[in-house]
Amino acid sequence: MAEQIAGQLSQLLERIADEVAPLRGAGTVADYIPALARVDPGRFGIAVADLDGGVHGAGDWETPFSMQSISKVFTLALLLAGSDEALWRRVGREPSGNAFNSLVQLEHERGIPRNPFINAGALTVTDELISLVGDATGELLAFLREESGNSALRVDEEVAASEAAHADRNLALTHFMASYGNMRNPVATVLDHYVRQCSIEMSCRDLVLAGLFLAAHGVRRDGSQLLTCRQAKRINAIMLTCGTYDAAGDFAYRVGVPGKSGVGGGILAIVPGRCAVAVWSPGLDKRGNSVAGVAALDHFTTLTGWSVF
Ligand code: DON
Repeated sequence: MAEQIAGQLSQLLERIADEVAPLRGAGTVADYIPALARVDPGRFGIAVADLDGGVHGAGDWETPFSMQSISKVFTLALLLAGSDEALWRRVGREPSGNAFNSLVQLEHERGIPRNPFINAGALTVTDELISLVGDATGELLAFLREESGNSALRVDEEVAASEAAHADRNLALTHFMASYGNMRNPVATVLDHYVRQCSIEMSCRDLVLAGLFLAAHGVRRDGSQLLTCRQAKRINAIMLTCGTYDAAGDFAYRVGVPGKSGVGGGILAIVPGRCAVAVWSPGLDKRGNSVAGVAALDHFTTLTGWSVF
């Protein structure tokens, strides 16, 4: 059954693209980063990369878009690959139940973010990665280029400038954590790297190739081991419980695999042991997740039976 589906993935993705067509343009494009508001809300793409090396796509699957918070998965992976478990003294591993950019828990919880995928947690990861490697953004870009095979991947400077000019919320989060002693590098440095990481442009095709190590128990495309099996399992677990913020319960209910969304409208989903799936459609629901993207993933895991449940 699984082999039969794998042979028909291209047709399946076309079918899913047709089924979610009425949802193209539903929701709202993120406008708190003004450069993102200019994206056509009617775009939709979906891609799958499986562990046998197959890559399939439908719709706008080769069009680059702003990866935004999907970058948080990769910075976490790079940090854990190169360090011990010290991060977990600075960041928790529980769902926040709050918006991705919320400040409210930080004061009650003494500057320790709930998890590495809300903005506060990702800022802490970026801070740690800077301390570990120096040029955290350069490290991330090099990794993404190598895994995707796309050496043209770059930071979209217009999006980065736009986000940097509207970063009051993230600045507040970072300063607040610094006030509790939970920031090692200068706030401006951490924010600059964080914003540039979020502003990297990738297509669904690039994303599934770059994220495949999470389906492959930590093994990179060249066969080398980035993460141990245990580390890969743990990152997938945090994606499932925290990757779509205060919608993580609903995402698990509808899709049933680990997923990480971004306000550019992309979602990277992982079927452990089998494949990586990426969707892109810029219209977002109230929690910042792509409306057509979540629906497409719901169809994908239902039609294939490939979910962790
Ligand atoms: O920091 C921000 O607000 C954005 N650069 C990223 C937020 C994001 O993608 C949340 N995801 N759904």
